[in-house]
Amino acid sequence: MQKPENQIIVIFGASGDLTKRKLVPSLYDLFNQKLLPEKFSIVGASRSELSDDDFRKLMKKGILEFTQSENTEGIDEFLQSVFYQSVNAKSPYSFSALKNRLSTITTELNINENIIFYLSTPPSLYSIIPENLAKAKLNKEKNGWKRIIIEKPFGYDLQSAKKLNASLKENWNENQIYRIDHYLGKETVQNVLVTRFSNGIFEPLWNRNYIDHIEITSSESIGVEKRGGYYDGSGALRDMIQNHLLQLVGLIAMEPPSSLDSESIRNETEKVFQSIRKIDTKDVAKNVIRGQYLESNVKGEKMKGYREEEGVNPESKTETFAALKFYIDNWRWGGIPFYVRTGKRLPTRVTEAVIHFKCTPHFLFKKQELNEGSNQLIIRIQPDEGILMKFGMKVPGSGFNVQTVNMDFHYSDLANQRVPSAYERLLLDAMLGDSTLFARGDAVMSAWEFLEPVLDAWKNDDTIPIYGYPCGTWGPDVADELIEEEGRTWRYPCKNLTDDGIYCEL
Ligand code: BG6
Repeated sequence: MQKPENQIIVIFGASGDLTKRKLVPSLYDLFNQKLLPEKFSIVGASRSELSDDDFRKLMKKGILEFTQSENTEGIDEFLQSVFYQSVNAKSPYSFSALKNRLSTITTELNINENIIFYLSTPPSLYSIIPENLAKAKLNKEKNGWKRIIIEKPFGYDLQSAKKLNASLKENWNENQIYRIDHYLGKETVQNVLVTRFSNGIFEPLWNRNYIDHIEITSSESIGVEKRGGYYDGSGALRDMIQNHLLQLVGLIAMEPPSSLDSESIRNETEKVFQSIRKIDTKDVAKNVIRGQYLESNVKGEKMKGYREEEGVNPESKTETFAALKFYIDNWRWGGIPFYVRTGKRLPTRVTEAVIHFKCTPHFLFKKQELNEGSNQLIIRIQPDEGILMKFGMKVPGSGFNVQTVNMDFHYSDLANQRVPSAYERLLLDAMLGDSTLFARGDAVMSAWEFLEPVLDAWKNDDTIPIYGYPCGTWGPDVADELIEEEGRTWRYPCKNLTDDGIYCEL
């Protein structure tokens, strides 16, 4: 494995949850695998007044709780490279102090001024921090490169995303900007590329001639938890579909790239986004279903409804479930529907993409059911990472009875292979200067452009319903109608939660 150049990683929003749960534990995991540079420092930056030691103590707790490494012996050694600098994001003066601190560290380490600035702050600071860094000339690449990583959400809608992009571009080049979408860091999401382009058998079938439809489900059993304040201004469409799930669509639907370099791959996914047919405002009610979870009893446990959650407006119309149907207008996918759904408080946590192949043109075997004639390739993104292929086999005995069977691969069967976390992978890539798995500005804009009519319709047309659904179910029943009108059904990785427990189909 390639080691990154010597560098400093500055994390804004250092006292936040993401730093403690994901960023620093992932950096520790990289350290443990000897994948961090020879010489590096991590500088936490946020408003709170903390000493280096206070910050190290907080991070130690986070690492012990969230690391994926079995070995925690190296924590104290790792923490020697961790520092803290109090920064008021809105004060240019604070950035001069930060600059001095960074310069002291680079001098002590005797390294170039290669610096990553990771913005894990509230989105309202995504413009001001890069602007203040630039005022302090911390965007200049004279004595070393400078990169900024921006967490999602990148904008609230098309207009605000364009505004944010324009403000970043005033001081930073596209190749310095890393827009993170942690789904792209998931091993199984990257495996979509490998499955498609390293096997001769799939690609010839991967088009409108052989595929009937594509279904993507990302469900969570948890509710909004402590994030009600953020979520109520966002909703499932902005929180999951605009970024994570459309990126997944991009990889599933793209043309083979000419090479594996970041521009080739991102050019192809961008072409997919540009080809997604916009949903006409008048068709939104029919093609996009929104729902909200209701107070319910699930297996004897009382669960709050969304509107009763902390930080949520009691009359909120924010969707916690969204399902939509759309088309990609190009030669490969013309006429093939894509169905995407996501929601909170559904029966289980699962993310999967199902490629439904067309049925055989003629039902030779009488007992074969309609659905059984259609093969499915199920790409399981999480939690049981792997790939499942469903196909028909003869039931032993007289006659020709057909039964659907599974050919199933689980990543967990690969002995001694830990699946690295998405943040581990993305942090390492950013350190190496590889932006392949980061969203490019034009793709983020195209994704917003596609969803703009939906967001507008929901905002302006009071007649579009938001359906309630009980916790522990697969969302409102009308979401079934969305797919069933043409004789298709969603794949249910498990049934609604009932008193007799969860039945998993796998
Ligand atoms: C985040 C969303 O981006 O992704 C959350 O803001 C969601 O609402 C999370 O829970 C899901 O990520 P994962 O990796 O658990 O599927």
